[in-house]
Amino acid sequence: MAHVLIVEDSDDLLFSLSNTVRKEGYSVYSAPTGAEALAILNNSIVDLVFLDIGLPDIDGIELISRIREIGADIEIVMLTGKNDAKTAVHALKAGAVDYILKPFDLIEFKQILHRIMRGRLALKKELVEPKEASITSIIGVSTAAQRLRKEIETAAAVKAPVLISGETGTGKELVARALHSLIKESKRRIFVKVDCGALAANVIESELFGHEKGAFTDANREKKGLAEMANGGTLFLDEIGNLPLSLQPVLLRMIEEKTFRRVGGLRDIKIDVRVIAATNINIEKEIAEGRFREDLYYRLNVIEIAIPPLRERDDDVLLIAEFFLRMFSRDMKKNIKGFTPEAEKNLLDNRWPGNIRELKNCIERGVIYCTSEWLAPQHMSLEDHVMRRTPDNSTFVTLKEMEKEYIRKVLESTGNNKSEAARILDISRTTLRDKLS
Ligand SMILES: Nc1ncnc2c1ncn2[C@@H]1O[C@H](COP(=O)(O)OP(=O)(O)OP(=O)(O)O)[C@@H](O)[C@H]1O
Ligand SMILES: [Mg+2]
Repeated sequence: MAHVLIVEDSDDLLFSLSNTVRKEGYSVYSAPTGAEALAILNNSIVDLVFLDIGLPDIDGIELISRIREIGADIEIVMLTGKNDAKTAVHALKAGAVDYILKPFDLIEFKQILHRIMRGRLALKKELVEPKEASITSIIGVSTAAQRLRKEIETAAAVKAPVLISGETGTGKELVARALHSLIKESKRRIFVKVDCGALAANVIESELFGHEKGAFTDANREKKGLAEMANGGTLFLDEIGNLPLSLQPVLLRMIEEKTFRRVGGLRDIKIDVRVIAATNINIEKEIAEGRFREDLYYRLNVIEIAIPPLRERDDDVLLIAEFFLRMFSRDMKKNIKGFTPEAEKNLLDNRWPGNIRELKNCIERGVIYCTSEWLAPQHMSLEDHVMRRTPDNSTFVTLKEMEKEYIRKVLESTGNNKSEAARILDISRTTLRDKLS
């Protein structure tokens, strides 16, 4: 539920506005003084503040900047006197989104209330991807899967950063979302995902932390960063191992001091986010090679959740495969009863370098090509022996052929993503390119 704070020193008006907001379906806090307003804002999460300009204790404009320091994404609407248009302009400059001239009627008040709340909802909708996950979306009966669910529950109970590590496709994002869903009050709190690997350092900085007007040539207006948008919720930093070195101290400060500055900004902005980071590369190796700061690493992995690769979770392979089989059969309206014994054996023998994502893609392909009631290896193109954990004597191939086939397989499982494939193969992109040509 969204929270609204009314700050107004006239008792009657405070009462009637609070009542209106409550009747419109929002939760409401009320404060007759600036000091009480600040106390509420420091201790609760508020979406919108209606602020009377003439408070007995703190100047309204001053109060706006104080609120801005507490949370950059709190919307402020100023309540000003009829003859005070000048102050209204100052209020807007200081960071209010709108103002209402007194006396006003409740209809006008409600219109503004709904307009701002609708805007916030639209923003949140856009940020929370529709795929909600809960702890039950993590399928598995293996000891590893059970431990994983336990670890998620433990992590959700505390506020420290969490580092999720695991090979590609093991379910790091799924785990992050499940963790977020368990955090108290997270239903109305947002989950913002930032891919630290995909962009150049300066672009990431302004994406992540926003920028002030005029910070660089194209910055015509101020922009909130993703961190600021995640305020009160979860900031999921995917591929943290690729975060440029220059940004690492900035992130460290955000975690330790709960403040940051926008690009080109001089003022500190307070922020309260739950940081979850994920990596599929070995960060200790990155530290040894000078690409990752040790202090940031220790700050991020206060709680570490390491997801084991699928090949170490034999008990889960068939269960997860069955789950995807049912899911895709339903989606594609096919009546497939299950796997042939041969298919089950192949599923268990496969090494799954692309882990659960690869298994999922494989089953989807199988369901597409399956024309009978039972899914067989050929439907999933799983009949080749190259990927088997133990080579089958009858089908020995040369090392070169094996390498070629293996690279093809890895590329396929990563959706032809060369950087990711190079990472799985633990070779550089250049080496991969040479091998491909
Ligand atoms: N235990 C599980 N049960 C069911 N589905 C799972 C499980 N783990 C992962 N998946 C599914 O596998 C796919 C890959 O998971 P996800 O995107 O979370 O992996 P990832 O570790 O973030 O991968 P990458 O490193 O490539 O980003 C998703 O479709 C996810 O829903
Ligand atoms: Mg991921």
